[in-house]
Amino acid sequence: MSDVDWESRYQNEDTPWDKGVPHPALEILLKKITFRGSIIVPGCGRGWDLQWLARAYPDHAVTGIDLSASAVRDASILCKDLPHVQVRQADFFDESQWTPPNPPGLIWEHTCFCAIPPSLRDSYVARVAQLLPSGGLLVGVFFTNMDDDGSGPPWNCEMPELESKFAPHFSIEKHQGAHPTFASREGEESLLFMTRK
Ligand SMILES: C[S@@+](CC[C@H](N)C(=O)[O-])C[C@H]1O[C@@H](n2cnc3c(N)ncnc32)[C@H](O)[C@@H]1O
Repeated sequence: MSDVDWESRYQNEDTPWDKGVPHPALEILLKKITFRGSIIVPGCGRGWDLQWLARAYPDHAVTGIDLSASAVRDASILCKDLPHVQVRQADFFDESQWTPPNPPGLIWEHTCFCAIPPSLRDSYVARVAQLLPSGGLLVGVFFTNMDDDGSGPPWNCEMPELESKFAPHFSIEKHQGAHPTFASREGEESLLFMTRK
């Protein structure tokens, strides 16, 4: 769990991370990967990426997890016409609170890893490694080049640390070249494709 009161942030509309649209790098996802199994979006917020993924992959169950009741309510409304989406108010780390509907094939990461305290990074790695079977994909954008005074969230995680944490469980491919992102985040993120060993 995190010390941030995420629910208050949503209630107070103090949500600068929320761009009201899916992450632009999702377009690259479609071109690069195929997978079997369900899709999980940890820390799905108001569900912009969830909705995009559900439309792009209509044959895959899609699960969004978020701590905040308000975010879950908004994401559920956004995805109300997509019956293969479920949005759960739960702690991503706590397997007693939620389980995926069927074996996951893809976890999409976008501003969840950077939102958890750095002390929880090993728990995040353990959780995604537990959820994904061999061959399953963890794909997403990670803040690796952001100025960070330590007062996050968000917290930056430089590539060497990311690699040392994920490499025991995942093969890591860094997307070469610029990927589309929000103007305010240009040059701050890396788009990574990780395959569960
Ligand atoms: C920076 S926001 C990003 C939300 C969304 N990905 C977006 O880009 O709009 C981080 C989100 O992670 C959620 N979150 C933080 N810790 C969590 C946890 N342990 N389990 C589930 N959700 C969590 C917060 O409630 C918040 O919605």
